[in-house]
This record gives sequence, structure tokens and C-alpha cells, in this order.
Amino acid sequence: MDNDAIAIAITGASGGCYALRLIERLVRERQSTIHLMVSDAARLVLRQECDLVLDHPPTAAAIARHLRIEEERLQLHPLDDWFAPPASGSAGIRRMVVVPCSMGTLARIAGGISHTLIERAADVILKERRQLLLVPRETPLSAIHLEQMLKLSRMGVQLLPAMPGFYHRPEGIADLVDFIVERIMDNLDLPAAGAQRWGA
Ligand SMILES: Cc1cc2nc3c(=O)[nH]c(=O)nc-3n(C[C@H](O)[C@H](O)[C@H](O)COP(=O)(O)O)c2cc1C
Repeated sequence: MDNDAIAIAITGASGGCYALRLIERLVRERQSTIHLMVSDAARLVLRQECDLVLDHPPTAAAIARHLRIEEERLQLHPLDDWFAPPASGSAGIRRMVVVPCSMGTLARIAGGISHTLIERAADVILKERRQLLLVPRETPLSAIHLEQMLKLSRMGVQLLPAMPGFYHRPEGIADLVDFIVERIMDNLDLPAAGAQRWGA
């Protein structure tokens, strides 16, 4: 049982760059083992926004090559692989991040609709009362989005919207991405090296 492994799901909201940078920093700085799941819509977004073209199903090798990280740290699970560790509480995965989290995936998690491995993995984390962190991105937000988020928050899910601050005087997009990635890593209790901190 690998209690330190982290499940990461990339879904089809804008902001695939947050997921790629999070994976890169967790592997480089924290030597984390990652169980990765990529939705079909996320593949479209990664191609559109990050010039990352992935096969169907995607491979760990392609993502590791793109990020220049060790492939051994990444376990990529097809969305119908019900034998993958994230599909069962007995595998012992204690933390899961959905980044970026589409409103579709968020609503399905809130409704307990375990259609793909991503939703099943989140459902497992919830039933086991472990850590689930969602990084939604949509604007403006409808009452449906807000109600689902409130429901999840009341269940102990952490909602960390992709809303970077500007008080650290970002010099470019990379700084804005790191702002969100560092907040995610803080909340996972895996603080990022050199993170800018208020009052420091
Ligand atoms: C380029 C692109 C950007 C998108 N941006 C968002 C977004 O920011 N938020 C969102 O909720 N959906 C967004 N969508 C729509 C979702 O991808 C769509 O609802 C999809 O069904 C989500 O599937 P998934 O939850 O399985 O990944 C975007 C789609 C594309 C192609």
C-alpha cells in the first residue's frame, strides 16, 4: 500500500497548464508518485492550450517526455480501468486533486455518478473520508455550479478555484500558474520550494 501516492485527474476545463505544472513540481521537488487520469475533453484542452498531443488512451511516456520528468513516477490509468488503484479504497490512496475541474465533472462527483475512473476515484476518496481537492474553472458561475460547490464543501471537499492573485506582482503567465500550483501544494501539505508567501 502506497499511502503517499497522489491521484490527479485532469478534466476538460480551461487550464491544463495548472495540472502539468503541478505534476512537474510534485515529481521534481517532492518525488511524489502520481496516479494520473485524463478525461477525453482534457485531451482536447491540452492540445488546444498546451500543444500537448496525447494518444487515446494517453501514455505516461508522452506526458513525462513533455515535462522532462521520470516516467516511473507517473502511473497513467485509462478511464475504464476499474482494476487501477484509484478505483478502490483498499489501495490506500489518501489524496486526490482534480485540476482543472470542469463543471461537468464537479457536478458528477457531487451527484455520486461514477461513470468514469475519475468520478469513481473521487467517490472512493469521499466514502473513505480522505482528502479531495477540486480546482474548478468557469466564469460566470450559475446557481447550479454554486449549489454543487456548496454541497461538496459541506462534505469536506476543498475547493480551490483557479483564481490567481496579483499581489505578488506576477511577471508573466508562468507566475500566475505557479500561484495556483503553490496553493494546491500547500493544501496537500507538500509545500513548494521557493513559494512566495504573504508577509515573508
Ligand atoms: C478548449 C476548451 C475549453 C473549455 N473550458 C471549460 C471551462 O473552463 N470550464 C468548464 O467547466 N468546461 C470547459 N469546457 C467544456 C468541457 O470540456 C465539457 O463540458 C466536457 O464535457 C467536460 O468533460 P469532462 O468533465 O469529462 O472533462 C471546455 C472545452 C474546451 C474544448
